[in-house]
Amino acid sequence: MLPQTSKNTPKIKRLVVVSNRLPIILVKEENGDWNIEPGSGGLVTALAPILRNRGGLWIGWPGTCERVNLDKIMAIANKNTGHNLKPVSLTEQEINKYYFGFSNEIIWPLFHDLISRCNFDPTYWEVYQEVNQKFARVIARNTTADDYIWVHDYHLMLVAKELQNIGIKRKIGFFLHIPFPQLDIFVKLPWRFQILRGLLEFDLIGFQTTRDRRNFTQCLRTLIRDVRVKGKGQVSLIQSGEKEIRVGNFPISIDFRDFMHNSETKEVADRAWYIHEYYPNQKIILGVDRLDYTKGITFRFQAFKRALIKYPELQNKITLVQIVVPSREDIPEYHSLKHEIDCLVGEINGQFTQSGWVPIHYIFRSLEKPELLAYYRTAEVALITPLKDGMNLVAKEYCASKIEKNGVLILSEFAGAANQCHKDALLVNPYDIEGVAETIYQAFTMDKKEQHSRMSRLRRSIGKYTIFWWVNSFLRAAIAKNLDNFPPLEYYIPSEEYSQRKIISL
Ligand code: UDP
Ligand code: G6P
Repeated sequence: MLPQTSKNTPKIKRLVVVSNRLPIILVKEENGDWNIEPGSGGLVTALAPILRNRGGLWIGWPGTCERVNLDKIMAIANKNTGHNLKPVSLTEQEINKYYFGFSNEIIWPLFHDLISRCNFDPTYWEVYQEVNQKFARVIARNTTADDYIWVHDYHLMLVAKELQNIGIKRKIGFFLHIPFPQLDIFVKLPWRFQILRGLLEFDLIGFQTTRDRRNFTQCLRTLIRDVRVKGKGQVSLIQSGEKEIRVGNFPISIDFRDFMHNSETKEVADRAWYIHEYYPNQKIILGVDRLDYTKGITFRFQAFKRALIKYPELQNKITLVQIVVPSREDIPEYHSLKHEIDCLVGEINGQFTQSGWVPIHYIFRSLEKPELLAYYRTAEVALITPLKDGMNLVAKEYCASKIEKNGVLILSEFAGAANQCHKDALLVNPYDIEGVAETIYQAFTMDKKEQHSRMSRLRRSIGKYTIFWWVNSFLRAAIAKNLDNFPPLEYYIPSEEYSQRKIISL
């Protein structure tokens, strides 16, 4: 049995979250005015409720490379989020090579097992290191030894090492939101040693699943000479020379109550009613994804088309509502994915549409939270079929919003969420078009009683292992503390607009 934390844990008074993105994005209007928009993606959804109201600090990039008076804008943003935001300014060249390049053209595809989509441009690595140094300098200037520095995701794997290089000592942990690949894939990375050594400078490294953690320790054992991994259970110990590092799996989740309560509001109920009216006598199958090739959107469309052919009774009776949130469109692979999706929607709708029925309703934009919740509440089936995904929070949000305990969750076996949901979701292999088509039919014909018992169990499990459970288990392993040790500040009231993912005009 390992002790929960290392010896000599200093008195930690404040939580400092560090991620590539702040939870907000600054967007310039054509007339020169600025808006604060919510960031999209699972990291922001998961972390926002943790710092909300607690007066901690969130360090990250504000989503623009324009030279603006950030201090003034941040003061307004701080009020809206209920904690402090410290922007890290990045140039266009840095964003191109560190964010679009190294992070999203190398690490993202590689860690999702899609090596053929990698662009191993050596200049990306140089800028990745420089930007990690830049983040380290911002952390050094804005934190003290009383802070716990919690770094998130694959953009910032070298931050602990860069802090050490400038002689700054902090209690520092890291959580990887995306999968960690198997050894035979990871070894293809030209900078594999540097990345592993960089990660070993954190005190605690967290992964989404046992499999990700096992992949990581196997890479360490094979590629790094002086490491030993000891202990089993949720957290084990890595001995690397003189240093001891903890490594654990902490499956991330959502603020279940927040999704549940928001789904009960009149605004959401009214919108849900309106959606029902719009699709009379139809069952809705819902897909919600960022524009990303890892999400399996095109395979999903093929499976939906196959279901319409194989089970013609579905025609006129089922509509696929597919929400795609724009993402990383400057990367050629994302740009061409958008084109492929547009074409497939056109092709399937062209082939099957009848008067009064269009098989795919395709929404390409980010939705405000009440609108998204109304779709969750209304949809009879959620079709969540990523080719690989760290967790997939949409799957959990769908269940949390099903307050009537109806609905069927179809979920890819390759999403981290499948570990928790495998008994009561209908699991599919997203590459198996025939299998997914059959599962769509199974979901369509599932009786109410079975839906109710499956959804009740899913909701019980997701309601138990919430985002607060996640943060507490990480903090206990890191510093023997809970979120309760960082009590809410009464004078901060985050704005309604922010928590409902609405655009705030400045
Ligand atoms: N989401 C969003 N805007 C939308 C639709 C969805 O911000 O219009 C959120 C959704 O609520 C979820 C997140 O995007 O919290 C997606 O997280 P997930 O873990 O499923 O995938 P990721 O995008 O992080 O890869
Ligand atoms: C995933 C990543 C996050 C990222 C999010 C949105 O969830 O794990 O780190 O923030 O996608 O992607 P973006 O590139 O827009 O930040």
